[in-house]
Amino acid sequence: KEHIAEVEKFTTKAKEDIENFRIKYLGKKGLLKEFFAEFKNVPNEQKKEFGQIVNQLQKAAQEKVNALKEVLENNVEEKSVYGDLTRPAEPIEIGARHPISLVKNQITDIFSRIGFNVSEGPEIEDDWHNFTALNLPEYHPARDMQDTFFIQTNPDILLRTHTSSVQVRYMENNQPPIRTISPGRVYRNEVISARSHCFFHQIEGLYIDKDVSFADLKQTLQHFTKEMFGKSKIRLRPSYFPFTEPSAEIDVYWGLETETDHKITKGTGWLEIGGCGMVDPNVLTNCGIDPEEYSGFAFGVGIDRIAMLLHQIGDIRLLSENDVRFLAQFKSAL
Ligand code: PHE
Repeated sequence: KEHIAEVEKFTTKAKEDIENFRIKYLGKKGLLKEFFAEFKNVPNEQKKEFGQIVNQLQKAAQEKVNALKEVLENNVEEKSVYGDLTRPAEPIEIGARHPISLVKNQITDIFSRIGFNVSEGPEIEDDWHNFTALNLPEYHPARDMQDTFFIQTNPDILLRTHTSSVQVRYMENNQPPIRTISPGRVYRNEVISARSHCFFHQIEGLYIDKDVSFADLKQTLQHFTKEMFGKSKIRLRPSYFPFTEPSAEIDVYWGLETETDHKITKGTGWLEIGGCGMVDPNVLTNCGIDPEEYSGFAFGVGIDRIAMLLHQIGDIRLLSENDVRFLAQFKSAL
């Protein structure tokens, strides 16, 4: 048994020492030969234990010789059971978040802090959820406002043109109070250029409760733009959407008054980021909510627009081309 301990402790880097060690234990006149010869003299009741120990010793000696030789030949450190703890780690290539995801996460964070949850829905929609429930009956001229990609007609199946369709689904399945935001990809049959694409990303918000007013809408948007852009002003320009009344476009005045050196593309500094309004009572009725009891507001902003503004991206196509030279620039962003 002491021999086994000795064998396990033994270490050297010299070739001759390994050879001497081998001869001492495993050689023709080595210790093991002796032990095996001794075997016949061992009393019967001890034979089993003796045999086991000698076998163990032989194995340990052979393994040690092999291991030492390997160290010598390959010039590597003797392996510990944990592997080589001094070996430097391989550098891990870390990717970057996409600017669309960055901005989407920022927006959902801002709204979740004021009690909004996140809802999602399908990108392939039926006519009801994208149009009819939103107060756009068939042949309504406002359907032309959104150049739709149809997958099938009669019954119509299409690529959603806005995430308002998710809000319809949400209202159909939940009673007020409702506070939800719906981010997602939307599609419109538009000519692709630096400023517009046939798909982009929206985040729409919906708030329905008793006594919700236009003042609540404006305050909420003001809070959002302040969190998003820092010191900022918003302007609501009267507009028209079939699903809201009254309706407005949301402009944000950003950059010139902030202490940054970001350039503003237009001289005035006002940039349109989306639309909003008070949910039309017809929409509430269509979705099973009583407009006598409840009122609410809705808004929708373009994620791509905001990402382009915040990160000074000059061409919307960069957002979907997957050029690593572009994407790698967002590595430090969280
Ligand atoms: N759905 C509108 C669009 O796609 C945006 C909007 C949402 C307007 C909610 C008003 C209220 O442009």
